[in-house]
Amino acid sequence: MILPSHIAIIMDGNGRWGLKNYNDRNKGHYHGLQNINKVIGHCIKLKIKYLTLYTFSTENWNRPKKEVNYLFYLFKYFYKKNFNKLNKNNIRIKFIGDLINIPKDLKPIIKKIQEKTKKNIAITVVFAFNYGAKSELVNAFKNILKNKNKTINEELVSDNLYTKNIPDPDILIRTGGEKRLSNFLLWQLSYAELFFSDKNWPDFSFSDLKRIVRKFTSIKRKFGGLNE
Ligand code: FPP
Repeated sequence: MILPSHIAIIMDGNGRWGLKNYNDRNKGHYHGLQNINKVIGHCIKLKIKYLTLYTFSTENWNRPKKEVNYLFYLFKYFYKKNFNKLNKNNIRIKFIGDLINIPKDLKPIIKKIQEKTKKNIAITVVFAFNYGAKSELVNAFKNILKNKNKTINEELVSDNLYTKNIPDPDILIRTGGEKRLSNFLLWQLSYAELFFSDKNWPDFSFSDLKRIVRKFTSIKRKFGGLNE
């Protein structure tokens, strides 16, 4: 039985959950953040080594200012409330995305989180923050051009992505009932098994995760070859 080593999640449905339960989209984001903490613990129990979470996309700037600002506020809240515990629990945290064009006050926090947790080994949690797969690829090609590489191959492209040294996800989960990739890890998800849950992210539970991992272990992955 082969267990997944990397799970990536599009945590969709926060806004709908917040509207339904509190008539407030931002409450959905708050509860979504609480669920992030729980799911990190679940992944450690399941011996998952990498968890990548889509926290803010390059397209999310198009939301009303109030919601965008609340997401940035939540980021700081997350750092204040959870960082020490996550670090004590041996969790490594990394960020991928365009970390240049984000609010100035978040930059030193990101730097500190990555630096302080870089030797932790229980799990690597990757926050995709101001992330867009197309802009990641354009950025990679620009680097390749700048470095005047003579041969371009898959390894070179991978090495110029934000996810350099992070293995590709085995599983992609999208909650919230929609079935699309929304500009998330387009290169890295080439051979991922895709799972969709109708539950909104704040309601996504340990048993939902275990069901998906169990299903994954029953799949014969062929990577374009044939079953033996
Ligand atoms: C998608 O749901 C979710 C997001 C755009 C934000 C995800 C953010 C969190 C889970 C918490 C914030 C965490 C950090 C570290 C900043 P949606 O708003 O698109 O939901 P909808 O489809 O119901 O509108």
